[in-house]
Amino acid sequence: MSEQHKPSKLVYRKADSFVVLNGAEPSLMRAAIDRVARLAATLVSEPGAHRRAILKRACDDLLAPAQERRAFRLRPFVAAEMALLSDAMLPRYLSYRYRYDVFPVEYRLDGFPPCVQIEVTSFCNFRCVFCYQKNPDFKRRSNGFMGFMKPEMFKRVVDQLEGHVEAVTMASRGEPLSSSDICEMLAYLPGKFLAAKMNTNASFLDERRAHAILQSGISTLVFSVDAAVEPLYSSLRVGGTLEVVERNIRRFAEIRRKHYPDVPLITRISGVRFSDAQDVEHICRYWQDAVDQVAFVDYCPLEDIYAQPETGIETPCSELWRRLFVLWNGSIEVCEPDFREVHKPCRIDEWNITDVWLGDYYQRLRQHHFDGQRQAVEPCCRCPVE
Ligand SMILES: C[S@@+](CC[C@H](N)C(=O)[O-])C[C@H]1O[C@@H](n2cnc3c(N)ncnc32)[C@H](O)[C@@H]1O
Repeated sequence: MSEQHKPSKLVYRKADSFVVLNGAEPSLMRAAIDRVARLAATLVSEPGAHRRAILKRACDDLLAPAQERRAFRLRPFVAAEMALLSDAMLPRYLSYRYRYDVFPVEYRLDGFPPCVQIEVTSFCNFRCVFCYQKNPDFKRRSNGFMGFMKPEMFKRVVDQLEGHVEAVTMASRGEPLSSSDICEMLAYLPGKFLAAKMNTNASFLDERRAHAILQSGISTLVFSVDAAVEPLYSSLRVGGTLEVVERNIRRFAEIRRKHYPDVPLITRISGVRFSDAQDVEHICRYWQDAVDQVAFVDYCPLEDIYAQPETGIETPCSELWRRLFVLWNGSIEVCEPDFREVHKPCRIDEWNITDVWLGDYYQRLRQHHFDGQRQAVEPCCRCPVE
């Protein structure tokens, strides 16, 4: 394998993590703007002053002339998400998307995180070269990081979020489809969230799981696949083989085409840009008939953030205003790079999500970041995410 790809930035801008995105049709942008214009004309009838104010800013920003560079911009993948939704759902979606895109960069909060990630399991069958899963301390049973969420815990978390949080991602440190309870969990989702997503390495994507996903209301399914040839694939995604994940992904596409042609879903191959041997153009072409989109994100040094040198970055990490992680055992964690759970505000059975999101632990941490004291906080001082 050729040399490791160096991150293109020293700061990892989470708000702009896509470095390549193919398949999100620019033609959908015009249709999205027309729908926003129609919504803007009827905003007075939207319920709730807080939501109405957010929607007004969202519509104003999206309808402003492009050269004004407002905080909230329409991007092709957002237009593709909007195309999945009826007009009746559009206000809910725009309100969520505005909060997700703008609140973290303006350091604004309301009662709920714009997004919550639910860690179905911390276990993974792969040891990807760029991931903390290859870290022996993380895997060591006696350290207590490994486990599977119980369906009852999953349902309690979902019950807390429904009606308040639209973006729920089933993935964090582990491989969600490795859970033997995954189909029961997926069956609890339909109708509850507008932006439900799952990230998977696709190695456990059998027919039963494919049907469960397609019936769950998940609207974005991300297949983490970083290559289109061997031995590159298995040298990056250690423990996996291209043959198996390709068979599974193509079978999923076939099941979808045959049995669920009208299910609103975006499938995406997502790669981490890590090695110069990854031919991004070839990878996009190779996968384009199996999925709706192919994207690449920049590599972030996640393998062991605690061993990284201090960055000197003094700007706050936007993740503290963007999303919260519920770990397999119900603990709440503030971010993904902190895989050793240094920042663990509480357990979910002792708190509700709003109390945690607006609670002392989170607010103190945000204040440190906001006051330029990030370098005094471990491991934030070593993390490039902004
Ligand atoms: C940690 S994985 C867990 C979910 C699942 N096992 C999977 O492979 O998608 C979640 C996502 O993070 C991405 N990822 C892993 N390490 C990364 C890194 N160092 N930089 C950027 N993204 C990374 C993966 O490619 C994947 O899309």
